Amino acid sequence: MVGRPRILIVDDEPRTLELLGRALAVGDFELELASSARSALEALRRMRFEAVVTDVYFEGSNDGEEILRASRELQPHAAVVLMTGQPALETAVQAIKGGAYDYLQKPIDPVVLVAKLQRALRERSLDRAGLAFNELVEILSGMVANTIERVDPYTAGHGERTRRYCDLLAARCGVDAAAREKLELAAITHDYGKIFLDDLCFLTKPGPLTPAEYLAVQRHPALGAERLGRHRRLREVCQWIEEHHERWDGTGYPHRKRGTAISLPGRVLCVVEVFDSLATKRSYKDAWGLQKVLDFFETQREQAFDPDILDQFLPLLQAHGEEWMARPSSDRSKRRSSANAEGAAVS
Ligand SMILES: [Fe+2]
Repeated sequence: MVGRPRILIVDDEPRTLELLGRALAVGDFELELASSARSALEALRRMRFEAVVTDVYFEGSNDGEEILRASRELQPHAAVVLMTGQPALETAVQAIKGGAYDYLQKPIDPVVLVAKLQRALRERSLDRAGLAFNELVEILSGMVANTIERVDPYTAGHGERTRRYCDLLAARCGVDAAAREKLELAAITHDYGKIFLDDLCFLTKPGPLTPAEYLAVQRHPALGAERLGRHRRLREVCQWIEEHHERWDGTGYPHRKRGTAISLPGRVLCVVEVFDSLATKRSYKDAWGLQKVLDFFETQREQAFDPDILDQFLPLLQAHGEEWMARPSSDRSKRRSSANAEGAAVS
């Protein structure tokens, strides 16, 4: 776990949700609030949580059980604390048997809840002597991103943004949590092969590439997959990296794979990677506007991109497009100012 632990709080009473949200905000947690079982399940599919605090009865129905079951399935590492206003010993026993960490009776004392969550998180980190896969992803991602950005400063933050958007899109496309963790690594390292190209100068060349340069650049997906390593846990990661320039209609590279011959995570990565590249100013082009990007994806439906994935991606763009379009230039200025600050500190 890197950064503040993220907690999902679920309750259909707005007042309880607000009070718990306020009480837990001082506990140095990052909070996500959900007022129904449906939005809780959606959040569980969308992002990682270290703990889930949920009501049991929602307008008379026992949806807490479903949330507990989904948490165990989608986020087995997370501690689940159940809350109810109708305590019964059998229900509590049932909940613990179902995998809940604890069971609290309403009204909830925020101090008790914060202490319980802190203890649960501490116990879970003690359970693990080594680094979890997601922690390794965080650490390696930072290293690889720094390396790629050093040879191509125009890609500042591209890997990290691709990683975030891929995770959201993959969840909507039904990719399970374990595969999504690996996809995060593929997303951040998809351009790793660029650093092994014989000539790095044309990565930042102003204007279009010559046919020979374009052919040379096309080696980067396979180079990345080859040089990332042969560890058995990386097999799919390498496959998705190699697929990130393949196209639905078979016009991509390096293998001209077509349709579902490209893996589902590979197809997700193709869409997101193109989106962020279009939203970013590169040495050879300006950043596009949102409408132009939306029009582009519409025209490429069933050509470059899987239409089913676009059906999931375009609503995300409608919801987050303006923010996502502004991020490349703000990431680039942040990198520039931190590089300037480091330069000033050295001199
Ligand atoms: Fe690429």
